[in-house]
Formats: sequence, C-alpha cells, structure tokens
Amino acid sequence: MKMSKHEIKEGVHWVGAVDWDIRNFHGYATDRGSTYNSYLILDEKKVLIDTVKSYMSDALINNIENIIDIKNLDFVVVNHVEPDHSGSIEKIIALSDATIITTKKGKNHLELHYDDAKNWNYKIVDTGESISIGKRTLTFVKTPMLHWPDNMVTYSQEDKILFSNDAFGQHIATSKRYDYEIKSIMDDAKEYFANILLPYKSLIPNAVKTVKGLDIEYICPSHGGIWTKKIDDILDAYLEWSGNKLNEKAVIAYDSMYGSTHKLALSIADGLIEKGIDVKIYNISKTPMNKIIVDMIDAKYVLIGSPTLNSTVYPSVAMFLNYMEGLKMPPKIGVAFGSFGWGEAASKVIKESFNKLKFDIIEDKCLKCKFVPKKDHLNECYEFGKNLTILNIESKN
Ligand code: FEO
Repeated sequence: MKMSKHEIKEGVHWVGAVDWDIRNFHGYATDRGSTYNSYLILDEKKVLIDTVKSYMSDALINNIENIIDIKNLDFVVVNHVEPDHSGSIEKIIALSDATIITTKKGKNHLELHYDDAKNWNYKIVDTGESISIGKRTLTFVKTPMLHWPDNMVTYSQEDKILFSNDAFGQHIATSKRYDYEIKSIMDDAKEYFANILLPYKSLIPNAVKTVKGLDIEYICPSHGGIWTKKIDDILDAYLEWSGNKLNEKAVIAYDSMYGSTHKLALSIADGLIEKGIDVKIYNISKTPMNKIIVDMIDAKYVLIGSPTLNSTVYPSVAMFLNYMEGLKMPPKIGVAFGSFGWGEAASKVIKESFNKLKFDIIEDKCLKCKFVPKKDHLNECYEFGKNLTILNIESKN
C-alpha cells in the first residue's frame, strides 16, 4: 500500500479535491473557495464515498492511486448526484468498473446526467439497509431534500463515522481537514446552512435527532472540514439555525441610485442603534447576497430599501428579493423604504416579497421619499428606527 496524506481512522482516507479558485457556486459567492470531499474505505471491499467536480477528477484519481490501484475499487457510494459530488463518476467507473451504491432516485438522477449511466452496475439501497464490506458494515439512510431528492447518508458503525454529504458542510478551500484546525468553521457552517439548507429547515430537527442517536466520532461532510471535536456544537447549531429564535437585530439591505435611499438607510439605522438594536447594513450591489442572507437568519427585523427605477425596484434589489424568496426566509418584521422621482413603485414590489414570506410589515410615511430626503425627513426616519420595536408591538395589538 502507498502513503495516504489524510487517514481519518485506520483504513478510512480523505481523497477529495480542494478547489482554491472557485468564486461562484450556483450563485453563492465562495470567496474562500470550496472543497469536494471524497473518502476511501479499505476493507475486504474497497469503497469510494462520493466523487468530486469533473474538472478536479485528476486530483481525486491521484489521491486514490496514492493508496490503491483504482482498478481494485469495488463500490462507489453516490450519496448525492449533484455534479459537485458525482462529476467524476464517469471516469471512476471507466477506470474501475465498480458497482454504484445509491438510492432509486440517485440511479434515476445519474441516468439523467450521464450518457453511460444506464450501463453501469448498481446496488440500490433504501433507508436502514446495510452492506457488509468485510470487517465493516455500511448503513444507508435516505435524507431527501438535504439537499436534493436523491440525498442519503452513509454510516460506518465500526468506524463511528457518518458520511453526511452536503449536511454539515462548509464552502471553504483549506489545507486543514478537521474542525479543531479551522477557526472560522462555525461561521462557515452557518453561511453554508443559510444559503444551501435554509429552504429545507423543517427537515433538520429529525435529521439531527437521528444523528444524535448514532455512536459517532466523526461527521465527514462533502464540503469543508470534518467534525470530530465540535460534533455537539454543530448539531446544536443546526437545531438553533433551523429554529425560530430571533434576536433583537436588524439587517438593512438596500441599493441606491443617487444616494437618497442610502441616506434613508443610515438614518433608520441610527434610530435602531440608539434603541440598542444590533444593526447590520449592506449595500446589495457591494456585498454578495449569501453574506447578507447569513446575517438575516437570526434577525427579527429585515429592512429592504430600493429606489424606484422604471416603475419597479432596482435590478440588484429584484435579484436579492428573488434569492431571499427562493431560500424561503422565515418570517420577520419587514420594512420597505426608498426614494422615487414621480410614480413610487419599489415599496410595493418589496412588500409583495414580504407577503410571500409571511413577514409582518410595518409602514410609515417617512419610508418613501420624493427625490432627495432633507434634514426633517431624515429626522423622521431616525425616529422611525428608534420606535420600530414599539411600532412592532403596537401592530400586533
Ligand atoms: Fe454539494 Fe448539493 O451538492
């Protein structure tokens, strides 16, 4: 046997790829890159858990061949068919003729992605099914919609390892492999959760309950660091992020044409800050949407500002509203504000988004401004910000 750089436990190796260059992962600004984690289990049978993006297949193949002859692979577990994890499967099967272990939906999705998939060998598994690979038994549990309908996780009881695929991942490129080596890992995991798993948050408590019932030393996700010393932390955090606990925090996200909506944003923020509210302000054109979203998940107040342009919101704001709706942002107190020239239209569009997401909307005449806000108008915005918590309580009575 050759040398492995990343042996997690005896016979279990990280053989994935680090994507230092990626800066956009289906709209998620990955300013620190990402990783596609694959794992190789050496037993009587040789098993690869997931692959990597197609353009990184050489790294995966080299990592496997540093340990075994790839021809000796017996099984490839496809926990999830999204191409960041199945993208190298054609090459791996061509080199090894391994049997694919996946769900019925996984097989269907592979066939919808890859020309030769109908000719591959499959072992279809369902929740609770196990396969003996020698000293080890691998057990599979379907986790549909975490992140696609085809998702499942794989558990090695003897190793006490859960191969969780997208769940518990982080989009970071790093030379470190473990939670205790990555200082930012909880923040990275929160950003990933907010932008990948938030629409499916209702499924999280059951998933966490299942994981808590397992004897686990390692959670090996398909992106980012491996959890081992912070397993309880990440499980508790998933429960918190998927819960409905909101903090006295306001996120103000806006764009501005000639600076008027910017002035409204700052004056409202001053009032909120005066009242002791934790405030985050983002210009939507200058901050990646995923950074704004992660700050929103535990904020009680979401204030979105846009000038009216061509009888609607600014294009950047339209994109942000679309992204926020797609992620099914849980209900908040919503405030729409912005400047206009003649026909005001932006606030209506923003409030339509709020209504779709079941936000409680707070309104005030100071939130709309014809052309440029003067000192008195900005004072009104400041007072609005200062009173928002009271207005919220009054709106409920
Ligand atoms: Fe990392 Fe849903 O793929």
